[in-house]
Amino acid sequence: MRTITFLQPNRLTIGFGCVAECISYVQGLNRPAVHIISSPSLWTTMTEIGSSLIGSGCIVSIDAGINAEPTISMFEQAVAKARDAKAACVLGIGGGSVLDIAKLVAASTGLDALTHCIEAYTNKFAHPLVDVYALQGISLCHQFLARAVRQPDDLEAREGMSLASLYGGLCLGPVNTAAVHALAYPLGGEFHVPHGLSNALLLSHVFRFNAQATPDRHAAVAIAMGVRPSADALDTAYLGADRLKQLATDCGVLTDLSRYKVDLSAIPGMAKSAMTVTRLLKNNPRDIDEAACLKIYSECFQEQ
Ligand SMILES: [Fe+2]
Repeated sequence: MRTITFLQPNRLTIGFGCVAECISYVQGLNRPAVHIISSPSLWTTMTEIGSSLIGSGCIVSIDAGINAEPTISMFEQAVAKARDAKAACVLGIGGGSVLDIAKLVAASTGLDALTHCIEAYTNKFAHPLVDVYALQGISLCHQFLARAVRQPDDLEAREGMSLASLYGGLCLGPVNTAAVHALAYPLGGEFHVPHGLSNALLLSHVFRFNAQATPDRHAAVAIAMGVRPSADALDTAYLGADRLKQLATDCGVLTDLSRYKVDLSAIPGMAKSAMTVTRLLKNNPRDIDEAACLKIYSECFQEQ
């Protein structure tokens, strides 16, 4: 077993002037549509942060409506505002109420949490410590994600997804993500497709592409997603890819990329751009070149 360092939380900044640090961190995320959630009493701070982000090319929207202990209806309004803003990044500025709402509005990308777990488990640098969280997270998403989307007041399902999201987050530090996230970057950066949605669109295609490299690991993911194992691990893995596509559909994701105002002619540029995300591509279980990126993006246009 190789030695790893398990950090939790993976980033904490404290001290006078840390707002500047926050701004530079958000700028570095390369997610241009930033949605700020705060309360009216922090108007000066949030506009200071918003102005700096706008100055660096971000599109900023502000929801300053959190002025009391969070309620379900307050949360639902906050989600609607974030969706309207097509937020790719949610920034909470404030105390407990604001941060709780901001986390709920964001962590809502359940398919992103699932992607974190799958990309950690199938990662070239997968680790037994992280595998435990990853497989549990995948199983929880299988159990609860579609249920939580269909029935937002199903507290058991939301609790399950909250745990899955935590597990997904724990996977990010020591192992991190791979080709799904790398290919998702151009969709977010150039076409402002929300992060979780970009991953959801790509996940089944990349999973199918990668399965050949490590059929057993991909079959284990499929089994955690409720697939009955067949004699051949690769067959089981492919059934897992089908299951992932079905889950995205069940969650209301339109799986044809053209529905997000992305044109077929954009594929070569996106493939070039994805190939620059080497920090994530190096984690992918199967070597991926520009031709493979072209093929995967093309497949995303063939869904109906
Ligand atoms: Fe992600």
